[in-house]
Amino acid sequence: MILETLILQHILVAVLMADTEREYHGYTAMDYDADCEADEVYQRCLSALLTHAPIDRDDTVLDIGTGTGIVALELASKCEHVIGRDIYDEWLQYAREKATERGIENVSFDHGSFREPNVDEPVDVVVASYALYMAYDEGGEDELRAAIDGLAGLQPHCVVVADKMCFGPTGTPSDYETVPRMGTVANLLAGAGFTLTDVEIITESVGVLIATR
Ligand SMILES: C[S@@+](CC[C@H](N)C(=O)[O-])C[C@H]1O[C@@H](n2cnc3c(N)ncnc32)[C@H](O)[C@@H]1O
Repeated sequence: MILETLILQHILVAVLMADTEREYHGYTAMDYDADCEADEVYQRCLSALLTHAPIDRDDTVLDIGTGTGIVALELASKCEHVIGRDIYDEWLQYAREKATERGIENVSFDHGSFREPNVDEPVDVVVASYALYMAYDEGGEDELRAAIDGLAGLQPHCVVVADKMCFGPTGTPSDYETVPRMGTVANLLAGAGFTLTDVEIITESVGVLIATR
């Protein structure tokens, strides 16, 4: 009887946790990974990021808005240390579990935001994959500026933004209201001291910008 009650309590807690995750992000970390795996545009964007990001073996790379750690875990084999930061602790925990399962030891995941990344060590490259558009969605250009300035404060020599942004001509209709124009992102990067050195357009609304100091 006691065991049954405990099992029921456990199931209830598990269901409530899953509901909380759904409320926050629409779906669980596992759902997210499955969707990314099946999303051709996401995969092309990830591939462009991995191919074009100028990352050296001895670099420390910050993956900001790391989510479930998809990008961070891919980058681990390319550099010395990957720092994954996000504001969503459940997904960070899932990312840690994936790193352990895969035996990847040079990645660390912890809480941190665009404005306050919570990173003490020197960072060579900042990578933001499908993340900074959320700052724009939340608070427009001002919030995106604050996010980029927060990351620039770490003094990386390069910022890689692989993200949703509008590459279409000015006046392209409102599908893109919640994502910034590519020019807006480029201008904000320039304001933070970076120059665009590479642009990979995946679709009219997804691409990779590489900006260096
Ligand atoms: C669409 S997911 C992308 C995850 C991962 N970078 C990828 O490519 O799969 C966006 C992530 O950005 C995170 N995020 C949103 N606002 C943030 C903020 N202010 N600071 C840090 N991360 C943030 C979310 O919690 C979420 O995990």
